[in-house]
Amino acid sequence: MSASPRPRPGPAVRPADAALPRDLTVGVIGAGRVGAVLGAALAAAGHRVVAAAAVSGASRARLALLLPGVARRSATGVARCADLLIVAVPDDALAGVVAGLAGSGALRPGQVVAHTSGAHGLAVLAPAAEVGARPLALHPAMTFTGTPDDLPRLAGISYGVTAPAELRPLAARLVADLGGVPEWVAETDRPLYHAALAHGANHLVTLVNEAADRLRDAGVGQPEKVLAPLLRAALENALRLGDDALTGPVSRGDAGTVERHLARLGEVAPESVAPYLALARRTADRAIAAGRLRPVDAESLLGVLAGSSREVAA
Ligand SMILES: NC(=O)c1ccc[n+]([C@@H]2O[C@H](COP(=O)([O-])OP(=O)(O)OC[C@H]3O[C@@H](n4cnc5c(N)ncnc54)[C@H](OP(=O)(O)O)[C@@H]3O)[C@@H](O)[C@H]2O)c1
Repeated sequence: MSASPRPRPGPAVRPADAALPRDLTVGVIGAGRVGAVLGAALAAAGHRVVAAAAVSGASRARLALLLPGVARRSATGVARCADLLIVAVPDDALAGVVAGLAGSGALRPGQVVAHTSGAHGLAVLAPAAEVGARPLALHPAMTFTGTPDDLPRLAGISYGVTAPAELRPLAARLVADLGGVPEWVAETDRPLYHAALAHGANHLVTLVNEAADRLRDAGVGQPEKVLAPLLRAALENALRLGDDALTGPVSRGDAGTVERHLARLGEVAPESVAPYLALARRTADRAIAAGRLRPVDAESLLGVLAGSSREVAA
């Protein structure tokens, strides 16, 4: 009896990251809030952080605190010794740093060059790709202080990843090593992705501080104590329920209340009137679209908002 034919091996499957060892040598340019913390997280995951760039006193202090024992080198020195190069510099410096590294001959084919900017995709890494390095945009959707406090906050966060198809397995592995979850973002969607995060996280900080200032104006001694439970509940509800989380005068069409808000804000903090109006208008539009506010009940409210907008513009 002849044995059943053994399955023929298919074409050799070569994972995109097969050329790289499981534990990578990592270089960090520079040891800023993000670079130092991601470097420490990669080290904790078993990768070998071999060098980092740090010029300012603050970056040197972060290097000593978060990456003790890691060699401090120039940017090109860091690039030469790393399988994975993390370029965590300010957004506007990124293009110049990448072009400088590529032009200096410090990058090599196969090396992975990753940046941590949310606004940029792969285009800014083109000079690195031209010399054979593999580009990766790896944006942690988190706010960083550049201290060890950031490390536990990395658990479960999302990373906005833009990567060539063949680099996706490696990107997924890195994100998993960091305890995170990849969110694949198309190159053209990068500005929108980043605008959404900035609008949500950065403008939230302004909104909270504005609210605290107005409470202080109203004689409240500890605005944070008043705001904390309210804002935490509002955030939780918004994340869970979307527009159905809305409460307050706009959702009820209480035009008189909104009118009194605007009048008093105009007297005490005129700089708060335009942002209040813009957000009230957008809140009303969303409440109507979500069926939370009937257009008929919104009429006088929208009239108040339009009247105040005309006054602000005048
Ligand atoms: N901070 C956040 O919460 C956050 C969150 C997610 C993503 N990001 C992104 O991560 C990147 C870094 O942000 P960051 O907040 O970590 O910035 P950062 O704290 O200001 O640190 C920037 C680092 O880049 C170095 N650097 C500045 N200009 C340089 C240049 N021309 N050449 C070489 N190195 C240079 C600085 O070195 P020296 O100090 O030695 O000058 C410093 O180590 C940005 O793309 C940012 O959008 C930030």
